[in-house]
Amino acid sequence: MLVLGIETSCDETAAAVVSDDRRILSDVVRAQIEEHRPWGGVVPEVAARAHLQVLDHVVARAMAEAGTEFSQLAAVAVTGGPGLIGGVIVGVMTAKAIAAVHSLPFLAVNHLEGHALTARLTDRVAFPYLLLLMSGGHCQLLIVDGVGRYQRLGTTIDDALGEAFDKAAKLMGLGYPGGPALEQAALRGDPRRFALPRPMLGRPDCHFSFSGLKTAVKLAWERLPAEARSPQAVADLAASFQAAAADVLADRVVRAIHRFRQCAPEGRPLVIAGGVAANQVLRSRLARVAEGEGMSLVAPPLRLCTDNGAMIAWAGLERLQLGLSDGLDFAPRPRWPL
Ligand code: KG4
Ligand code: ZN
Repeated sequence: MLVLGIETSCDETAAAVVSDDRRILSDVVRAQIEEHRPWGGVVPEVAARAHLQVLDHVVARAMAEAGTEFSQLAAVAVTGGPGLIGGVIVGVMTAKAIAAVHSLPFLAVNHLEGHALTARLTDRVAFPYLLLLMSGGHCQLLIVDGVGRYQRLGTTIDDALGEAFDKAAKLMGLGYPGGPALEQAALRGDPRRFALPRPMLGRPDCHFSFSGLKTAVKLAWERLPAEARSPQAVADLAASFQAAAADVLADRVVRAIHRFRQCAPEGRPLVIAGGVAANQVLRSRLARVAEGEGMSLVAPPLRLCTDNGAMIAWAGLERLQLGLSDGLDFAPRPRWPL
């Protein structure tokens, strides 16, 4: 059983074909780096137009690389939200057209559910599991009990972690895309040079807050005289920011593990997902945290942490197997909590 998955909710135009026996037959991602770089961040209208321009080619390539025809598909899945609405509309309309022409079931997938279920595609993780979902728009701790069944333990009360990475990077002149650029810069940096806050540390709940950390980075940067804003200062500030983020995540995750233990059977893993989960420093820190708590960490390959079509195809497949599908009157949802 093959499903085509389409993703256009932010700045990647992506399509993939995935089978129910967990093979990724194709996985085409076209990032809009050149389109957004001059603006230092994602411009929604520019993103929507770029999706419109390339989506047909991306889908055609995904189908060709998979060696399959539309008529052989079991369904078409697409990100139905949350995300930048112009891009979501482009993807949804394309998927609806394919489904209508080839009489295929249509599945509107919640983008967050795509991230949340990726570890089941890559690592065959069974339910339930504890999930740390960190992307450009979200930072949440969830218990995943099943497809469509999520208990939210905590969320950010202000900025998402990816957003904080992007803003910190932009401020230091690292440009767009910010998260990976900041990680690269931090490789040569001293994480102890700048004393940055660790918001929410020690709080009894499982929530996050990153806006204070972002402001502290801004102040630290502005306090440096112009001549001191050297590549080494950038590296040190990037490393200090990343270390603060890692400390906050570690503290919040330990809280969530303790809550999870009260209601989950023994031996269930911690799973990470979303673009920020591609960060190596955070991955290794979370692996240590999990190990310290006697838990295993499941981290999908980097390519499947950032936005892609395979995760949408897989979430669609999981829903299809439960007998679920959506009508062609589905309306794209800019906001859509899990
Ligand atoms: O999941 P994703 O690709 O798109 C959304 O659903 O938002 O996540 C994108 C976010 C961006 O904020 C990006 O800067 C961040 O993930 N990101 C990273 C890294 N790679 C992507 N943040 C830190 N380190 C990375 N290596
Ligand atoms: Zn995403």
